[in-house]
Amino acid sequence: MQYYAFAVPGLEEIAGQELAELGADVGERRRGVVFFSWDGDPQGLLALTTVEDVYALVARDTVKRSREGLEEIEALVADAELFELAVGAHRRARPKRIKRISYRVVAQRHGGRQRYMRKEARKALERAIGRRFPRWRKVEEEALIEVWGLEADRQLLVGVRLSDRTMRHRTYKEAQLEASLRPTVARAMVRLCEPGVDDVFLDPMCGAGTILIERGEYGRYGQLLGGDIRPEAVAAARTNIGPRYKPIEVREWDAASLPLAAGAVDRVVCNLPFGKKIGELWELQTLYGRSAGEMARVLKPGGVAVLLTSERAALERALAAAEVLYIERLMPVEVLGQEAFFFKLKKVI
Ligand SMILES: C[S@@+](CC[C@H](N)C(=O)[O-])C[C@H]1O[C@@H](n2cnc3c(N)ncnc32)[C@H](O)[C@@H]1O
Repeated sequence: MQYYAFAVPGLEEIAGQELAELGADVGERRRGVVFFSWDGDPQGLLALTTVEDVYALVARDTVKRSREGLEEIEALVADAELFELAVGAHRRARPKRIKRISYRVVAQRHGGRQRYMRKEARKALERAIGRRFPRWRKVEEEALIEVWGLEADRQLLVGVRLSDRTMRHRTYKEAQLEASLRPTVARAMVRLCEPGVDDVFLDPMCGAGTILIERGEYGRYGQLLGGDIRPEAVAAARTNIGPRYKPIEVREWDAASLPLAAGAVDRVVCNLPFGKKIGELWELQTLYGRSAGEMARVLKPGGVAVLLTSERAALERALAAAEVLYIERLMPVEVLGQEAFFFKLKKVI
């Protein structure tokens, strides 16, 4: 059975690893899309943590940019051999007793230069479904089956969505803060730090607590530690964490002077402040310099840190000064439409 998942651009490799661990056979990776086949229960795919959405594949082909493309879209989907299988996968993933199937179509487009509008592509998809499943009822919202079509340049990708918004947003985010990280990105950072079952895990600028929660959800650990300089962030993190993930400590502190002993931590994962809302560059440089020095101090030799920032040069300068942290990997990742990087660091001595 063939599927694909949407991932935040830059996370395709980590999403592929998660899928492979699940037992899927991972195929092509395209910007923001990972294709795979999987013969297990489709419900198992709803537990994926590093992808935004997962789909059962209906059709995938190139279509013309001219208006002829609309007829090609309709024919491709009306005749798609995989359509019933994809609907069957949805029925198994989300079993529900119903009298009649309701559906809606979502049409997306990245780039393009098509000679027809996105709305027309959606209508072509609806005509195809009307031909293929005349008894289905079209609705605007709360549809049982969602058929998503993505046009990326000349490639059309059509699938039945198996996931819902809880895959992307999770269910724990009661207290929202600005600049809060996407849970899938937080989970990818957790995976990249190679967590171990006895780890003391630290997020020194934890905001609403997303990274700590994703580490807690990932699996066993020794202790979770987090803090933030703003009391409202500490309160939001505590609300989102609730009574889970013990032992855990969330404190108000300055990441530039952590109340932790040298060598007390195995893993650091942190979404650093960056972007428009953050003040002057020299202030950021000072914060990066001081907090990188503290991370270097509290990490054990051989410890790993994974940091996220779009301010690559500022972090590289800070790391050069911290000396003991060397960059093992730099991975570009798109965060809120902006190019940012995962820095995977190791403490050498
Ligand atoms: C990009 S946000 C982190 C968001 C977090 N990962 C989340 O998902 O909510 C950066 C956080 O760093 C905190 N921060 C800034 N300077 C700090 C400092 N010197 N010490 C501790 N926290 C700091 C900010 O208050 C903010 O909550």
